[in-house]
Amino acid sequence: MIKKNNLYYPSEEIKKDAHINSEETYKEGEENPVAFWEKAANDVIWREKWDESFSHTPPYFKWFLGGKINITESFLDVHKESDKTAIIFCPNSPEEEERKISYRELYREVNRFANALKKMGVGKGDPVGIYLPMIPEMVFALLACARIGAMHTVVFSAFSPSALKVRLQDTQAKVLITTDGYNRAAEVIDLKKNVDEGIKETSIEKVILVKRGGNEINFTEKDVWWHDIVEGESDDCPAEMMDSEDPLFILYTSGSTGKPKGVLHTCGGYTVQAKATGKWIFDLKEDDVFWSTADAGWITGHTYTIYSPLLNGATTVIFEGVPNWPEKDRFAEIIEKHKVTIFYTAPTAIRLFKMQIGEIERSLESLRILGSVGEPIDEDAWEWYYREIGKGKCPVVDTWWQTETGGILISSLPGVGPFKPTFTGRTLPGLKFDIYNAEGKSVSANEEGDLVILPPFSPGMLRGVYKNDEKYRKTYFSEFGENIYYTSDTAYRDEEGLIRIVGRADDVIKVAGHRLSTGEMENVVAKNESVAECAVVGIKDDIRGEVPIVFAVIVGNKKAEEVTEEIKKVLMDDIGPIAMVKSIYIVEDLPKTRSGKIMRRIMKKLFTGEELGDLSTLANPESVELLKNVIKRDI
Ligand code: PRX
Repeated sequence: MIKKNNLYYPSEEIKKDAHINSEETYKEGEENPVAFWEKAANDVIWREKWDESFSHTPPYFKWFLGGKINITESFLDVHKESDKTAIIFCPNSPEEEERKISYRELYREVNRFANALKKMGVGKGDPVGIYLPMIPEMVFALLACARIGAMHTVVFSAFSPSALKVRLQDTQAKVLITTDGYNRAAEVIDLKKNVDEGIKETSIEKVILVKRGGNEINFTEKDVWWHDIVEGESDDCPAEMMDSEDPLFILYTSGSTGKPKGVLHTCGGYTVQAKATGKWIFDLKEDDVFWSTADAGWITGHTYTIYSPLLNGATTVIFEGVPNWPEKDRFAEIIEKHKVTIFYTAPTAIRLFKMQIGEIERSLESLRILGSVGEPIDEDAWEWYYREIGKGKCPVVDTWWQTETGGILISSLPGVGPFKPTFTGRTLPGLKFDIYNAEGKSVSANEEGDLVILPPFSPGMLRGVYKNDEKYRKTYFSEFGENIYYTSDTAYRDEEGLIRIVGRADDVIKVAGHRLSTGEMENVVAKNESVAECAVVGIKDDIRGEVPIVFAVIVGNKKAEEVTEEIKKVLMDDIGPIAMVKSIYIVEDLPKTRSGKIMRRIMKKLFTGEELGDLSTLANPESVELLKNVIKRDI
């Protein structure tokens, strides 16, 4: 890349072959965003064209109304005779043989399983739970649901039985697709045990098990083996024709309060956006080997590990294991071995590689684009990624988006640029973003404010919160009215208009790029009878970006150590290992305003060393001194 001042621009060589390499595309998008997205929509297969491109009755909006589509047709049917590799599966253990699945085989695997699901009574509009590690069946299961018009609802395989239960209770799925177990690094994960616990008090009637772990399981009358039910099924299963606005999937994510919410995505708009963003931002071409390290338990896994590379006819890498096991440079070994051309990961992984490996000894020559996602990337990590992994020749696309947006909406494009470390970059063509102050007015350059999206939004954005319309309206379309999508992120723009994300304005934290709600964690901690009051805040961490810490005021006779252990356990049981807290502080009081609001901001500042501000307005300013004494041991 070429550096001018502190900005990086793509070299002529990168520009030359890029799908988008000029300002023309931005102009087109600005002049008529709806027409711009219509053009993108013509790049996927529709059975019937839409008759209305965009409709908007705030806060609801729809795209490509009247169109008939099935997302799987754009790649399964298009490439069904092709022996080109669709998926490279890299198992947890390097000792186990890798598997290459061609588009032809993918067509067959998906259809056979889709037919088996149908036989089980699953049909259009039915929710189906998926609780699987990153094995090929994860992809087959998602695509089979999409093929028959069932809504897939993936639950991250590292979530606990309680987390699984809450989600299944909300969707009321009758079928769950899972596995007996699997290996993660050196550990055997008995997933079936979680399932037996997690499906209690849910509507699950059938559990489909992929044989993977080979561990002993309790086989119940609800259980069937995947390999048994696909036996003898036909390789063909006609794609169910879906209305553009029919649901494609639900994915739960953490919000400000209480329970996770089911973000609903629909067929037409999501398909268009998943294909287009892959093409524009990763410059995806059919000869690319794309590796997005994200698990399909998260939105990045849905859109960029699975749908987008397949829609673009590329090869996608599915990795079951851990990027630094058994060797610290396992991820680099995979890039080298499979000649990965585009690598997409989270800053946490980059920081970990930088710290553990430093200099890479493998050939990463095949790489042409690098991507970052999920949390802000710091300058050190950016520079290392750019120089050590990309050898100064690969554009680094820092991609901003959310579970709710379905696909990337902010990122400079590899064939255009510019790129600026720590800045996510330009908004995509065809979109209107702004940054508002509290009064809903645009802020000036370098001034922080709320990041918002203006109509016509993007085709792949959420259409609702499953069974909770109130939450949809309140969370996204109330802060600045029904016409403006509120992202919950704080951001600013520099003089060139490049956007830098500062962080979340709500109580969502990003731990290793994973989205967690401190509010949800507080509810879990408060369940403990000894806990009278608690607060969870995210504090900065050198590797994981942010980590949660707990402050709790306890009552009763139990010792502080005992309650601390109980808190750790309940977080693990109710959420899972990603809710592992850095520290738990048992304190006498929490700082509060006179109206009783707990001042989490002050607690955070105790760790950053920032000015605490005026404490005299607190109801109990002395509590802050007490907190300082308790946390002194750690900082
Ligand atoms: O705060 C932003 C942060 O992640 C949030 C969305 O999280 P989730 O729904 O889990 O989706 C993550 C993967 C798209 C956003 O509100 N975020 C996402 N990408 C970036 C980011 N923060 C800074 N830079 C990014 N590139």
